[in-house]
Amino acid sequence: MRTVLLVACLLFPLIASAAGGEVKLDRAKIDLRDAVSIQRGAQVFVNYCQGCHAASYMRYNKLQDVGLSEDQISDNLILTGAKIGETMTIAMREEDGKTWFGVTPPDLSVIARSRGADWLYTYLRGFYRDESVVTGWNNVAFPNAAMPHVLWKLQGIQRLHTQAADSHGKAHSELVLETPGTMSVPAYNNMIRDLVTYLEYMAEPESVKREQIGIIVLMFLGLMAVLTWLLKREFWKDVH
Ligand code: HEC
Repeated sequence: MRTVLLVACLLFPLIASAAGGEVKLDRAKIDLRDAVSIQRGAQVFVNYCQGCHAASYMRYNKLQDVGLSEDQISDNLILTGAKIGETMTIAMREEDGKTWFGVTPPDLSVIARSRGADWLYTYLRGFYRDESVVTGWNNVAFPNAAMPHVLWKLQGIQRLHTQAADSHGKAHSELVLETPGTMSVPAYNNMIRDLVTYLEYMAEPESVKREQIGIIVLMFLGLMAVLTWLLKREFWKDVH
């Protein structure tokens, strides 16, 4: 019995990830060294997401690290009346979120750690019209998500077209843009890339610095190895 349980525990993550892996994820191709992309993403976040989602591990003034001044942050990014040293919380109470959507919209501070950039990129571009669900929207990456498509005016309205199973017995479905939005498809994709870059930055603001320090440490170790070898050669040259 214990063995069965152990095997089940070990296999569970595999099964779970197999179930989640049905949708093919699009590559987000974000660049965390692109500070302007992070700035634009932050703007989208406060305008379109913070109405429902908080980012309570993120302080507004941290954005000075990506090149924004205190005034720019206060004037353009703080829409909630918070002070610059405060975290990005929201006014909506948790119970209200639950009543309105059935699920409390989760805090997005570290969502990029759990979902990954590619999943977020696919999710935020993957909403389609579905009259059979309450919100009127469904999603290819997150079926029956309780989140409405808050960016639909920009993206337009997509539908999911499913073709009948082919000779290999595989049904094929694809998203088709039925009514264009105010943004072109490439412009919308770029905006989502900025937003995902911001979400990724928020989840680990020091990641670029950490990688840079890693490279310096490796270079230092390499230099030390060469010096040590030269020193060894010097010490041993007369011992023969
Ligand atoms: C009108 C309220 C609302 C707005 C605005 C909104 N969301 Fe959501 N969001 C929700 C709700 C509710 C859920 C929970 C969905 C579920 O669990 O079924 C959710 C879920 C999510 C998830 C999935 C979290 C998970 O469980 O892994 C992500 C990612 C997300 N939202 C990102 C965003 C981003 C980015 C924006 C801004 C473009 C945004 N949301 C705007 C209500 C909202």
